Amino acid sequence: MKFFVDTAEIDAIAELNELGIVDGVTTNPSLIKKSGRDILEVTKEIADLVDGPVSAEVVATEAGAMIAEGRKLATIAENIAIKLPLTWDGLKACKALSAEGHMINVTLCFSANQALLAAKAGATFISPFIGRLDDINLDGMQLIADIRQIYDNYGFETEILAASIRTVNHVTEAARIGADIMTAPPEVIRKLAQHPLTDKGLEQFLKDAEAAGIKIV
Ligand code: E4P
Repeated sequence: MKFFVDTAEIDAIAELNELGIVDGVTTNPSLIKKSGRDILEVTKEIADLVDGPVSAEVVATEAGAMIAEGRKLATIAENIAIKLPLTWDGLKACKALSAEGHMINVTLCFSANQALLAAKAGATFISPFIGRLDDINLDGMQLIADIRQIYDNYGFETEILAASIRTVNHVTEAARIGADIMTAPPEVIRKLAQHPLTDKGLEQFLKDAEAAGIKIV
């Protein structure tokens, strides 16, 4: 499973990138707002920092304007994936921009039919939002499973990018189902390393090491 980081915070991306676990980055207008940075400037910095795809989202809603924005975003760097919302106009823009050879991340996907359309329109990535479905008492993980089955049934190459991941269990479940990629905030990725029995075990080992006077260097 590939790991994307869902943030526009350079320091957090850099720290995770040093560990070699960052396969890409996703941003959206809310994350850009949170960073307080100019979209073109911060996206360029991120794209220079990581080797994988960096998603940058359009803000237009009409296909022609989305295409113009997408083309502009794509000039930032070679590894930009243009992020388009899953609307009818977004699908039109997806078709046009993917035909030009751009990577496209179709975002705000909440149904299997939407995912089917995005794949047929040439999306590189489909982003089903797990957490936001769970927020309204629907089953976000079932959506990942449905899309996995449908894409496998017909051999679609669009990669399933499990998004809106809020918990470590979301990561486990998405990986079990076979999502190609997950994108999560840095704090969720850091939590993947945590386990109370690891902390407890280490505490005991350190006590015993001290009692035994173990010194290595
Ligand atoms: C994905 O590309 C989105 O930026 C993100 O995962 C949305 O997550 P949220 O629902 O926690 O805002």
